[in-house]
Amino acid sequence: MSHTPPPGQQSFLRVFEPLSRTLENPVALGFLALAAFFIVRSIVMGASKGPEPFSMKKVPVTDTPAQRDFTPAELVAFDGRDEGTALYIAVKGTVYDVSKGRGFYGPGGPYANFAGRDASRGLALSSFGTEVLADINGPVDALDDLEPSEKDSLDEWAGFFAGKYVAVGRLVNAPGVEATDGAGPEKSEASD
Ligand code: HEM
Repeated sequence: MSHTPPPGQQSFLRVFEPLSRTLENPVALGFLALAAFFIVRSIVMGASKGPEPFSMKKVPVTDTPAQRDFTPAELVAFDGRDEGTALYIAVKGTVYDVSKGRGFYGPGGPYANFAGRDASRGLALSSFGTEVLADINGPVDALDDLEPSEKDSLDEWAGFFAGKYVAVGRLVNAPGVEATDGAGPEKSEASD
């Protein structure tokens, strides 16, 4: 019995000869590996592109913290006073990394009042007043009492932040803190 493959199988195997020669050549092997890398990379990057570039799902995981929940008191740690720490603000329940806007929100910036805080009510009312910033030990501002025009204004700001900054998590009530229905703490405590 001969070990020579039948003629049909021989020509079939010949198709693979250039490939086996390539695999024996280290330079050609290098080129092949490089080409494979770029093909895989373009597939992976292509798959990550979508119609909503700023949706929560597309947050790059390499240079941003994982999505997480922040209580108002925890968010304060990200008020930008420590230059080595990211700068966060919350808008309508979403926490954004606004570190690239340090000039706006960092110490001495025009909007530093919002750093490490829930900026929702201040943005809705176009106010820098401390009375529009919810108590960090109280519940998350439910914002239910805003006028329709204030809600519209806040929605526009929410779109602005979603478009410019990376969302890093959600603003949530601390354990044991009850959600309120309506005004922010300061406003509801006001006597007038
Ligand atoms: C005298 C009134 C104001 C002036 C002259 C002013 C001016 C500006 C300017 C020039 C920018 C930069 C726009 C750009 O990058 O294209 C800006 C951005 C901004 N302003 Fe004002 N502003 C005023 C009032 C307010 C008020 C009342 C609020 C909210 C309480 C506010 C919140 C913001 C925010 C959140 C940004 C976006 C900063 C960012 O890019 O992250 N501004 N403002």
